[in-house]
Amino acid sequence: MIINGKELAKEAEASIASLVSAMPRPPRLDVILVGSNPASSIYVRMKEKACKRVGIRSVKHTLPESATEVELLTLISSLNSDSSVDGILVQLPLPKHISESTIISAISPEKDVDGFHPTNMGLLFSGSPSIAPCTPKGVISMLDSIGFSYDGKKAVVVGRSNIVGKPMAVLLLQRNCTVTICHSHTRGLASETRQADLLVVAAGQPKLITAGMVKQGAVVIDVGVNRTADGLVGDVDFDAVSKKASAITPVPGGVGPMTVAMLMGNTLEAAKRRVKDAGI
Ligand code: GUN
Repeated sequence: MIINGKELAKEAEASIASLVSAMPRPPRLDVILVGSNPASSIYVRMKEKACKRVGIRSVKHTLPESATEVELLTLISSLNSDSSVDGILVQLPLPKHISESTIISAISPEKDVDGFHPTNMGLLFSGSPSIAPCTPKGVISMLDSIGFSYDGKKAVVVGRSNIVGKPMAVLLLQRNCTVTICHSHTRGLASETRQADLLVVAAGQPKLITAGMVKQGAVVIDVGVNRTADGLVGDVDFDAVSKKASAITPVPGGVGPMTVAMLMGNTLEAAKRRVKDAGI
């Protein structure tokens, strides 16, 4: 079975759009893009288009590559105190002279729709209700859509980033999977991945996962987006692995669209909470 992320994202967006239309005012998402990384520009455009589809107001702030950390912090501070702003997203990666952790920590946790702020990460890791990062949330939504039963399953996550690998492992742990996190220093990667009932790959290495690394009947989720001479490819050798997997996500058209849909959901949730708490 091929899990159609594009179709699932469309369904998720339709239900978000109907909830947005019931709000006393449209939610507002402010997106900050620093520099002109081509991939980041594409992602930001996709996020803006999704906002339009679901009725969220999006405001884009473009800063030059030469922008200083202080300039970016000043912008974030003004958006934090602007009561018309519900969500703030700083597109990553940032230029090397700017500290990502300083910037992420400066965003008000209530407006951190990426779920990257240490407060939101801490809430997620301690099992409290929180804004969860969009990509792992999208993966869970895809697994739910195929009726995946998590309890007691062996899940292997390849990749340990704060954006995907770590929060993914926590969400699976919360659902009673036995979770292994693999990374670039893992010895015997294939012997780990071959044990997985569920394999989630977010390593950023084209076709890292070959058929020989996958157990017959496993569910395989490919979070990789690699621009190569052959076009966009995932971290999984789709053609070979799809013959062994019971369910698999394609690239493109898999996790990517779901990530964007989850961002719309997180923005709606942030706006709903603010309307409820402060009537704004
Ligand atoms: N860069 C790659 N993925 C993401 C994401 O989910 N959010 C942000 N802000 N930047 C990213």
